[in-house]
Amino acid sequence: MIECPNIEKQVIQNHYDISTLFYRLLWGPHIHHGYWDADEPSHDAQVRLTQNLASLAAIFRGARVYDIGCGMGGSSQWLAKNLQCKVTGVTLSPVQRHWASVSSWATGVSPRPEFRCADAETIEFPAESTDFVWSIECTEHLFDKPKFFQRAGGWLKPGGRFALCAWLAGEDPMSQEQQSQAVRVCEGMFCPSLGSRSDYETWFVNAGFRIVQSGLWTRKVERTWEICKQRVERTRVRHLAKVLGKNHVLFLDHFDAILKAYKTGAMEYGFFIAEKTK
Ligand SMILES: C[S@@+](CC[C@H](N)C(=O)[O-])C[C@H]1O[C@@H](n2cnc3c(N)ncnc32)[C@H](O)[C@@H]1O
Repeated sequence: MIECPNIEKQVIQNHYDISTLFYRLLWGPHIHHGYWDADEPSHDAQVRLTQNLASLAAIFRGARVYDIGCGMGGSSQWLAKNLQCKVTGVTLSPVQRHWASVSSWATGVSPRPEFRCADAETIEFPAESTDFVWSIECTEHLFDKPKFFQRAGGWLKPGGRFALCAWLAGEDPMSQEQQSQAVRVCEGMFCPSLGSRSDYETWFVNAGFRIVQSGLWTRKVERTWEICKQRVERTRVRHLAKVLGKNHVLFLDHFDAILKAYKTGAMEYGFFIAEKTK
């Protein structure tokens, strides 16, 4: 596991409060990588990643879903609209909660997801109250990942599933250079740590899950950052970031670091479907 102990939770919250606008301008309503089979437009690629995860997890119509780290509500709305799921989305950012609620209301998606502003590391849900926990690119920001998986296991009904996508550290042993590349990404993207694929599998198993399927989508998703880089260069987003503060410039300047880390194997992009066994 790669650790970056200087990250603070308040900084993560501030980042999402302010950067949500950047994500919306640069990328779209989903704050996650796209998944490319060919040359499809970026919006289609973002939806493809959501669709792929939902289909691998076998999310059924009308399922109860907790969307942990829900961003602007992109996945929550997709699951409600396409599979009539009853979704509760959780985000650390009050701005995102508001954004997700207003956009769900404006688009008339039904059943309308509920959004809460809360910390995934402390939020309480009743025991065995959901069919699925869904989380795309949020666990990177959590400080005690093993404990989070223990708690999430308690929310799931027996046989319930966790569907997860995450930025991963490469597998050990990594060279000094690879470790520095992964730490640089953590600093720029506000991740207190990055687990490897085997770290995540261990955390799931220790929390009473069995791994149904897991895999790496790095080559399918890495184009995301080429596109974001081009969009930053073509627009005035960097000027806006300078006005808003150094952390926002730091974030834009780290797109190259992510691309490099993917190329060298310092980082990977992974998905996991895990089923609660006890
Ligand atoms: C990269 S965004 C992904 C958003 C969303 N899953 C999507 O795919 O569009 C990361 C999300 O994790 C949330 N997050 C980070 N730390 C969190 C925490 N401790 N509790 C709840 N949400 C958190 C952020 O607020 C943000 O919504």
